Amino acid sequence: MTEIKTIGVIGAGQMGNGIAHVFAQAGYAVLMQDISEAFAAKGVATIDKNLQRGVDKGNMTAEEKAAVLGRIRTTTKLEDLAACDIVIEAATEKWEVKKQIFETLDKVCRPGVILASNTSSISITKLAAITKRPEAFIGMHFMNPVPVMQLIEVIRGLATGDATFEAVMDLSKKLGKTPIPCNDFPGFVSNRVLLPMINEAIYALYEGVASVESIDGIMKLGMNHPMGPLTLADFIGLDTCLFILNVLHEGLGDPKYRPCPLLIKYVDAGWLGKKSGRGFYDYSKA
Ligand code: CAA
Repeated sequence: MTEIKTIGVIGAGQMGNGIAHVFAQAGYAVLMQDISEAFAAKGVATIDKNLQRGVDKGNMTAEEKAAVLGRIRTTTKLEDLAACDIVIEAATEKWEVKKQIFETLDKVCRPGVILASNTSSISITKLAAITKRPEAFIGMHFMNPVPVMQLIEVIRGLATGDATFEAVMDLSKKLGKTPIPCNDFPGFVSNRVLLPMINEAIYALYEGVASVESIDGIMKLGMNHPMGPLTLADFIGLDTCLFILNVLHEGLGDPKYRPCPLLIKYVDAGWLGKKSGRGFYDYSKA
């Protein structure tokens, strides 16, 4: 396996720009792709803003920040990813979008180059089967906000080879993160455990057990969680929460995963959480 020097990142959104940020900060050359130059530029602007937090706190100099940004290039063409030694996909959570991306990457990337997906719940085994290199396919599930969170959930698909697994564990450690492996089942471990808790918090609200503030306050102070479950749902995005719950419900076939009707109603209303300005809380004035 060739030494990994250049990292390809597909998607410049919340997760994609975070992944590009941490690799560039660890000294890697990064090529970040998105479908438009405007999306890619927005991703770089977010990285700039998040790096500036470190400069303002005296954790990083302005020169170091400039060097990190200097290691990130952008493109709108998937074909340009041919130069990369590993590609991590963090595009939108739509099967058809990911299918088209991995079909193209499988053609343009050198044989043996690892293709990874940051999907929060789509089957790694099924994504791997799009390609002719399922042994070199793996899940690398980063947590939001990527620069802050320590975990990378490393998901082995049915055909993922040992060399791919070892290379990704090693790469994750070089990033200063803690990789933890698991197998490919709906929701992996993180979302299989997290989303039922969030869903139950929404049911508690729906059934009038307590107010939004009480539910979050009880869980935050009582369990020492950094955010209450409804704040966290707004932070993740209510559409994403619903998507993951549907994957759990359909994939595991157990009614205990059925999404709360209140969550469905909020998503139908376009109340998607922080990103839309309204979810369980109102962010319009923030
Ligand atoms: N980029 C870089 N740095 C960031 C950042 C970002 N986007 N957001 C916060 N930070 C930094 C801050 O600068 C600060 O740094 P210092 O410690 O050096 O001062 C630190 O993180 C803490 O931030 P704040 O003081 O602003 O705020 P906080 O203490 O309230 O922490 C939080 C914010 C880290 C988001 C915290 O609330 C938290 O850990 N929340 C839970 C996050 C979580 O559960 N994430 C997983 C979501 S699920 C997921 O991602 C998977 C999925 O598939 C759905």
